[in-house]
Formats: sequence, structure tokens, C-alpha cells
Amino acid sequence: MNIESQVQLKPFNTLSVSATASHFVKVQSVAELEEALQFAQQQNLNVLLLSGGSNMMLPEQIHALVIAIDIQGIELVAEDENTATLRVGAGQVWHDFVLWTTEQKMYGLQNLALIPGLVGASPVQNIGAYGVEAGEFIESVEVYDRQSKQTQHIQAVDCQFSYRHSIFKDDPNRYVITHVIFKLLKHADLKMNYGDLKAAMGDEITPENLQKQVIQIRQSKLPDPKEFPNAGSFFKNPIINQQDFTQLIEKFPNIPHYPQKDNQVKIAAGWLIDQSGWKGKRLNQVGMFHKQALVLVNYADATLKDVKATFQAVQKDVYDKFGVHLEPEPVLFNEQGLIQNH
Ligand code: EPU
Repeated sequence: MNIESQVQLKPFNTLSVSATASHFVKVQSVAELEEALQFAQQQNLNVLLLSGGSNMMLPEQIHALVIAIDIQGIELVAEDENTATLRVGAGQVWHDFVLWTTEQKMYGLQNLALIPGLVGASPVQNIGAYGVEAGEFIESVEVYDRQSKQTQHIQAVDCQFSYRHSIFKDDPNRYVITHVIFKLLKHADLKMNYGDLKAAMGDEITPENLQKQVIQIRQSKLPDPKEFPNAGSFFKNPIINQQDFTQLIEKFPNIPHYPQKDNQVKIAAGWLIDQSGWKGKRLNQVGMFHKQALVLVNYADATLKDVKATFQAVQKDVYDKFGVHLEPEPVLFNEQGLIQNH
């Protein structure tokens, strides 16, 4: 285990903001992780867990031990006529894992192709796209519990998966995800109801084609972080109550919306931002992408300060026009390496 000091994290966060970590280490096993956590405790350092860096906002200086989780491996742990159960290292690249499952004829995750990041982060915010959420195919999550100092399995039901949420968001300093156990299907049950997905598939109703179309749709709308550094959808789609929604739709009849349980309604943040004039608009070097207004892009060497200036301006304009508060999706860290409220 090699602990480095003063490490630039620009290549480790897809928004590509400049951020220097006082201490940094890559861990490839649970044993190395334990060693790193011990070091942090001895040195009185907070721990910042780094996965693919595709959903985080980092300050310019971080005084903490940044632990990059690089645990690899895919194992088939159980199988029957209809399902295959896989134990996957948290450090596996998500998209490569999805492509691999499709090649193996294991189905369920095809709608989630091309989501940036690593497998270990998938349960944290229960990543989702085109009508599927990762939580639907997760059987359990293997974690290192920093409280009991032991590894344990958390069953899916106890993860409390919901829209971009799980217990790992509520209690971010307790568990380190080391492996994720997925239960996939041998006979595909295709989910094609989102937007134009079905039309895009034409006559070829196969999981392979579904995956291909999802990749094409994403590539046509979403910027490649290598070209335009970004953190995916920058805001969550707001969920509001029926009463507020009724007032809103009277004034704005075209607002895209999706009914939820408990009399709630989810509305499209991208549309709100677009209608507020922010699609393709920039404030200094940070702006909202011209093909998908929900994605914030760092066009040139932005720091967290610049990112904040733009996202707060967007929040203000959307609030002034629609009376709706937009909550950022990426996790915000402070200079001590701890998660901050937005
Ligand atoms: N829209 C606009 N203008 C825009 C963008 C969107 O009017 O600039 C409208 C669209 O026309 C559509 C609606 O807003 O009617 C929703 O847009 P879209 O289908 O593109 O999806 P989204 O709600 O913007 C969500 C997820 C994405 C996921 C897609 C597909 C969130 C916050 N975002 O985006 O997830 O890929 O659905 O399922 O839930 C991510 O989380 O990083 C992410 C990319």
C-alpha cells in the first residue's frame, strides 16, 4: 500500500475540477482497505472514498485521506435455470461490466449501459436510466463496516433503494462498499417504455439491440466527459406534491411529468432549466450543455467556486420562474473531506 501526498485529483473526477488531496491511496483488496482506514485513524484524518468520481464536487484543497477503491473481479456465485448471480468488485468499470453481462447472455442491466463510474457506486445513489434502476437487480451489497470493523452483506431490501437514493447516502461514513452481488436473468424481460426507446429499436426486439439503442441515445444527448467534463445529470428531477403540481401545470401545460406513488409527481428538471433559458448558456467557463440542459459542463479549468456560481444561478432562475427548487445530484465535499449539504 502506497500512501502518496499532495495528489492532484483532476483526472479522478469527471467534472475535472482541480483539487489537491493531502493524502491519497489506491486499495485493491479488503485487507488494504483496512490498512488504509487504520492509517487515517492514526493520523487523525477524515476519509474520502473515491469511486469513478462521476458524481462528485471537490474543493481545491482537501485535507483528508482519499481512498480510491480499485477492487476488481467478477465471479459467478450461483446459477439456476432462470438466473445467474454475480459477485462483482467495486472497482470494476460499470459500462464494461454491463457489456460483459450482455455478452454472457445475462440480462437486466442493458438499459444502464454507458453510465459513467464504477460498480461500487451503483448502489449508493441507485443509478437509473431508461426505466430501470440498478437496485432492481442487486441481491445484496458487501461492505466493510467502519463501526464494527467487519465485512458484512446488506440485503437489497435493507438498502432501501428509491429514486437516486439508498441507506448509503443517509449514512455515508459508515460503510465502504467492496463488492456488489447482482442477480441477473437468463431470459430477458425487456423494459422499452421510456421515451422513444421502443421506436428506436424497430423490429429487432433483443437485449443486444436495446443496449445498442440506449448507447446511441445517450451518445446523441450526453457529453463525453473526456471531451466536455461533466457529472451526468447535475440536478435531480424534483418530486413535488399533487397540489403544487396542479398549480404548476395550469400555468405551464407542457411540463413533462411522471406520476409517482403517494400522490407525488416527478417533473423534468432538464425542461425547467431549458425553459429558463439555460440550455447552451454559460457563466464564465461553466454552463449547461446545448443538447441536454440538465448536464453541467466544465468548459475550461473551472474550480468548485465556478461550478457553484453557475449552478446557483440556474437554481435561482428556475425558482424565480417556476417556484421549484432544484437539488444537485453530485455529492459536495468540504476541505476536510466530509460530505456537505447543498
Ligand atoms: N428536456 C428538455 N430540455 C432539455 C432536456 C430535457 O425539454 O434540455 C425534456 C425532454 O424533452 C423530456 C424530459 O425533459 O421530455 C426528460 O428528459 P430526458 O428523457 O432526457 O431525461 P432526464 O429526466 O433529463 C433522466 C435521468 C438520466 C437518465 C435519463 C434517461 C435524472 C436526474 N436523470 O434524465 O440520468 O439517463 O432520465 O432515463 O433522473 C444521471 O443521473 O446522471 C442521468 C444521466
